Amino acid sequence: MKNYETMTVEKRGAVAVLTINRPDKLNALNSAVHREGVEILDELKNDAAVRVAVIKGAGEKAFVAGADISEFADATPVEQRDVMNSRSLFTVLDAFPKPIIAMINGFCLGGGNELAMACDIRIASDKSRFGQPEINLGIICGGGGTQRLTRLIGESKAMELILTGDMIDAQTAFGYGLVNYVYSAEELETKTMELANKIAEKSPIALQMSKEAVKFASRSNLDEGLRREIDLFAICFSTEDKREGVAAFLEKRKPVFKGR
Ligand code: COA
Repeated sequence: MKNYETMTVEKRGAVAVLTINRPDKLNALNSAVHREGVEILDELKNDAAVRVAVIKGAGEKAFVAGADISEFADATPVEQRDVMNSRSLFTVLDAFPKPIIAMINGFCLGGGNELAMACDIRIASDKSRFGQPEINLGIICGGGGTQRLTRLIGESKAMELILTGDMIDAQTAFGYGLVNYVYSAEELETKTMELANKIAEKSPIALQMSKEAVKFASRSNLDEGLRREIDLFAICFSTEDKREGVAAFLEKRKPVFKGR
């Protein structure tokens, strides 16, 4: 892959690791991060060798400390609306068909928390801090925070975080259900890669269908969701992976899924 100004991407077997690389600005999301991140995700989407992605921030201090506030200074409402409605990292991550894990190694604030919430699974170090501090800038969340945080942790806790702008620590975020696991900073990467590799062994088609069905749950009513699940379940019966998975079970061996 080509070199990027604000991102690096590394392929470790079937897992692609994306790093937002602006540690001197605590990996704040400027327009270059969105543009380059979207380009990378579009490429990874079409790379059959990549089955799972991990996204992290460079340096010891932050995952992402939010949108780059310096870009807000002179933006007009219309310009800012266009930016938010464009193909941002939030929307492209949300629609990314392969599993993507946010590995959170420090401040996870504002757009950083929104980015993490657009991923499928969040794994944090015990040094991480989470919050939606937009209120302190006289604005509100614009990358999905009011919607995704509320769906993930419930209206009462989401409301408190959004109205106060306060930060919570990793254990509190775990208790709220915002992150799946908390590990020490030393263990974070190993544990994240273990989970990523475990998921990478599954059928890529079944992973994609599972993501679509689960994401539909918070976007539909129960009857529509159950119907969609049955359709996606039925589509799996057209795949070689389904034949392999069932045969491997009956033959008491490990399946090898090819994504066909
Ligand atoms: N946008 C742009 N720059 C940011 C940034 C952001 N969201 N968050 C941090 N930075 C920059 C700082 O301006 C500073 O740059 P400088 O060295 O050129 O002055 C650098 O990153 C380091 O941050 P600093 O504030 O010195 O670190 P700290 O440890 O004292 O504080 C935070 C860390 C996270 C508490 C603090 O940086 C902060 O509050 N950031 C903004 C968080 C926010 O409001 N995010 C939501 C945006 S919508």
